[in-house]
Amino acid sequence: MADKQKRRKISVSTASRSYKMLIGRGISDDVEGILVELFPGSRKIFFITNNKVFDIHGKKIIKKIEKSCNIKTLVLPDGEEYKSNSTLSKIYDFFMKNHAHRDDVVIAFGGGVIGDTAGFAAATFNRGLELVHYPTTIISQVDSSIGGKAAINFRGVKNIIGCFYQPHLIICDPDLLNTLEEKELINGLGEIIKYGLVFDYKIIESIKEILNENPESEERLKNMITDEKFDEIIFKCSKIKSDIVEKDEFDTGIRNYLNFGHTIGHAIEKVLGFKNISHGQAVSLGILCSVDISISLGFMKDSHKKELLNLYKLLKLPVRISSENADAIVKAIHFDKKITEGRTKFIILKKINDAIVINGIDEAVIKKSIIKNT
Ligand SMILES: NC(=O)c1ccc[n+]([C@@H]2O[C@H](COP(=O)([O-])OP(=O)(O)OC[C@H]3O[C@@H](n4cnc5c(N)ncnc54)[C@H](O)[C@@H]3O)[C@@H](O)[C@H]2O)c1
Repeated sequence: MADKQKRRKISVSTASRSYKMLIGRGISDDVEGILVELFPGSRKIFFITNNKVFDIHGKKIIKKIEKSCNIKTLVLPDGEEYKSNSTLSKIYDFFMKNHAHRDDVVIAFGGGVIGDTAGFAAATFNRGLELVHYPTTIISQVDSSIGGKAAINFRGVKNIIGCFYQPHLIICDPDLLNTLEEKELINGLGEIIKYGLVFDYKIIESIKEILNENPESEERLKNMITDEKFDEIIFKCSKIKSDIVEKDEFDTGIRNYLNFGHTIGHAIEKVLGFKNISHGQAVSLGILCSVDISISLGFMKDSHKKELLNLYKLLKLPVRISSENADAIVKAIHFDKKITEGRTKFIILKKINDAIVINGIDEAVIKKSIIKNT
């Protein structure tokens, strides 16, 4: 039984729905009780996951809940390429076959890919089933499970078909992160740095504090996420995200700040190919370029960049973009702009924890920032 003292709660209140995020190391031990309490009666539970997460954690979780819940399981293939309309059809078939009703519950158990795809299916089937996000990666715990964005990719364009659909509950167990491969830890840490730079620098200080216990260790990232101090980082990031979602559910204002590093990051992802660079790595490089833009606009100082580069090295984050891709990255930003009807916005730091939105930064300035990081 997880220590209930250690279970924390974030309440998210939006115009569409109010819900709770329950956070606690080992909270998965109590998952049966949590579900029965929130979803009493004979509702069906549609447990959607991928093959990797199913093998590592899913089977154990299903065992815990199958005694008291009518559970149907769908195991999807693993990978960003399955965030697609054909996967969506598979999920709809699964719902049809099992006569899903609007008060039945979908549990999206996995990283952001499962959360986004199963979330979109839950939002659209029968005009909306109940939805539980049960995130198992850093990105999904601190970001994608909170705030209701659900989407699939289409014709190579990321998240182009999507909707807003707030979940009914989020269950967040940092213990599940212990099995992540190192590249997935690195992937998630880029997003955490974003929260630290834009919203709360104490997050970065805590990371440094944990890492400095053993900075030379090859296993330092694994050690960091198993450290109890890391739970506080997950909590802080999730709270920042939920506060922002409460203020700007539909991403028309302050929620834009979460896109810090993403405009260039998305372009890098696109040019290098999703298989060759993770989202978090691309965003980390995008953050470096954004800091350079901020320096060239006279806001931040070179010393900030230097400090950031030192942190990146400790976190094994990438620090260089290949120079032959610079032109293609600028073009990709341009393409993105067309798709979003010219609304490309840059989030720039005036100083640490003080972001502004700038529309239409000069292309030469963007290119210079990319070249600076080659
Ligand atoms: N909806 C949003 O607001 C939002 C925000 C950020 C990102 N996203 C989306 O999230 C996706 C990226 O999410 P992600 O980084 O979680 O990727 P992911 O879902 O692909 O997971 C990364 C890898 O980790 C594996 N994995 C998951 N949990 C594991 C565990 N506990 N132990 C071992 N392996 C595990 C997965 O099988 C996968 O191979 C992208 O599609 C992105 O567009 C959405």
